[in-house]
Amino acid sequence: MENQTAENQAVEKSVPAVKLSYEDAWKLLTEYTKGAALRVHARQVQSCMAWFGEHFGGDPEVWGVAGMLHDLDYEMYPDQHCAMSKRIMEERGVDPMYVHAMLCHEPKLTGEEPSTLLEKTLYTVDELSGLINAACLMYPSKSIFDANVRSIKKKFKNKKFAAKIDRGHISDGCERMGWDLSDVIDGCIRGMQANAEQCGLVGDHREGDRQE
Ligand SMILES: [Fe+2]
Repeated sequence: MENQTAENQAVEKSVPAVKLSYEDAWKLLTEYTKGAALRVHARQVQSCMAWFGEHFGGDPEVWGVAGMLHDLDYEMYPDQHCAMSKRIMEERGVDPMYVHAMLCHEPKLTGEEPSTLLEKTLYTVDELSGLINAACLMYPSKSIFDANVRSIKKKFKNKKFAAKIDRGHISDGCERMGWDLSDVIDGCIRGMQANAEQCGLVGDHREGDRQE
């Protein structure tokens, strides 16, 4: 109960004065992001965030848009990552809540530490969704519908698999959220399943198939 109250308070901090719709956020994102991989990544992070937003009693679209825009500048300005996103978002009048969430996904670059539940979740699922995506692409079906917590945890423990994905970052994120890794994986899978087409992970799933 105590936890729930803390979570509710944390969610209340993540209400923008001016909400951005998925449609408008997508227009902004695709103006600066032309590559398919980064667009899919944006959709995957959006989908995980929407699931957690809903779970915590927040507005899934607010959480989803915060997820969608977090790498806004990465394709065009990789050397000024986050600083350019901040400039672009501010120039476009994007609510400061989204700007701050974006800054907090890279605390080492920006010096901004995730403090709200939305920010902590974004920090975590950015990296974790990448691991889940890489795992799904290894399944014969290439489908998120074949993903399960056990399979993803195995890939998490195998440091040679998708070696660039920072396991320490993911563990740190789960700790910041106060959640078990298994539960965060479960939420991400559910979020990505709910939006599988935009996540590029419908694949060729057949009932009864299951990855180990
Ligand atoms: Fe990202």
